[in-house]
Amino acid sequence: MRTAKNIFSCQACGYQSSKWLGRCPDCEAWNSFIEEVPQDRPAIVLRSDAKVEHYPEIENWDGQRITTANPEFDRVLGGGLVPGSVVLLGGEPGIGKSTLLLQICETLAQQGMRVLYVSGEESAHQIKLRGMRLQIRGDRLYLFAETCLEKILAEMDRIQPHCVVVDSVQTVYSSRMESSAGTVTQVREVASQLLYFAKGREVPVFLIGHITKEGSLAGPKTLEHIVDVVLYFEGSRDQSYRLVRAAKNRFGASSELGVFEMSGLGLRPVSNPSKLFLTERSAGMPGSVVLGSMEGTRPLLVEVQALVSVSQYGTGKRTTNGLDSNRLSLLLAMLQRRCGYELHACDVYVNAVGGLSLVEPAVDLAITVAVVSSLLNRPTDPDLVVFGELGLAGEVRSVCAAGLRAREARSLGFSRCALPAGNLPLSEEVEGLELIGMQSLQPDLQRLLL
Ligand SMILES: Nc1ncnc2c1ncn2[C@@H]1O[C@H](COP(=O)(O)OP(=O)(O)OP(=O)(O)O)[C@@H](O)[C@H]1O
Ligand SMILES: [Mg+2]
Ligand SMILES: [Zn+2]
Repeated sequence: MRTAKNIFSCQACGYQSSKWLGRCPDCEAWNSFIEEVPQDRPAIVLRSDAKVEHYPEIENWDGQRITTANPEFDRVLGGGLVPGSVVLLGGEPGIGKSTLLLQICETLAQQGMRVLYVSGEESAHQIKLRGMRLQIRGDRLYLFAETCLEKILAEMDRIQPHCVVVDSVQTVYSSRMESSAGTVTQVREVASQLLYFAKGREVPVFLIGHITKEGSLAGPKTLEHIVDVVLYFEGSRDQSYRLVRAAKNRFGASSELGVFEMSGLGLRPVSNPSKLFLTERSAGMPGSVVLGSMEGTRPLLVEVQALVSVSQYGTGKRTTNGLDSNRLSLLLAMLQRRCGYELHACDVYVNAVGGLSLVEPAVDLAITVAVVSSLLNRPTDPDLVVFGELGLAGEVRSVCAAGLRAREARSLGFSRCALPAGNLPLSEEVEGLELIGMQSLQPDLQRLLL
């Protein structure tokens, strides 16, 4: 008789090895290997009765999405929920995953859908307690505190829900697998079984996922491949607002951002986030400038702040918050070489205010303007919004959606906008907004300072 040899798999990325490894050769995580019992079955069983279909004869999807009646959540989903889709919602402990999805359950139930909320973490009483605080009536809402996948699937067969939430995917286990709950093998099995259910019945399924300290879901990479949509809570718990970003979306634009505000009644959608992000702006202070940024398909105004101070030591430190630190180093080197600002012996701190992560190239101009403003101790015009990508020669390069950014600036009362000259003229005139087209940092940058 042959005894099955156990394998070791990385809990961060799913990489498998025949022996224990201290560090994963694939994702470079330390101490991430756990011994698991190997399975012969394929990871994803989509439809065992599927057959070859002739393309023209496949029924057209009429594109009907289910609205969650929550504009910000609809936005991150790409315009509503697609029937049969599997959506993974990840986030740090206590950030509001259960709260948000319980609220979505209620709005779906109010539209006449039967919703099943499966919790492997909290008792039905605990969820009811949260629901009472959120003033959820839950006429068509069913709670099931269970972690065994087979029992959950049996109840799903019985209740025939129109939408299912599983809180969290890491607590659910399949009794057909010997590994313990939360391991890569289990998480993948649970997700693919639920995917099979979702696709077969055209029922949307939400999976809540925990994020480890390092910012990744346990068993994340494998799960991201299986599901249709991946949403992450961004930012910190210390702020009253919460950001949800689409990291992957098979039915819409990714990098779409939803903004919510945490209140006693749960997470409220924020309809005008630019206004929210600028409420505590340090206008008129050196080192502060407003960036016209794009988050997915939406323009968003964000304050970028820099602080430049003489370093205690020979070489300066560079610290960023919500911005790419490599990008900052590169921009500082460029400012030094092309514009002659002495920065190598300075400590430079740059923040995107509000806990946002800004990754698009259009932040370059805002970063340099903020740094030079702080270095020279000269404030920028409080009525100014900037955006633009910078090249290594100090040239200002055009960016996407310049018109949208400019219009957002005007609608929030700004009267001047510095932007790449290459973006001019804008496709549509923005009344009341003075446009400052920039070719290169030198000599144009100083014109933006008071
Ligand atoms: N009475 C209250 N009033 C206002 N906000 C509250 C109240 N009780 C809890 N909260 C907020 O709800 C958050 C917890 O939300 P929730 O339980 O949905 O988080 P979670 O992401 O599901 O956490 P976990 O990972 O532990 O499951 C708290 O961090 C707090 O900000
Ligand atoms: Mg929770
Ligand atoms: Zn790994």
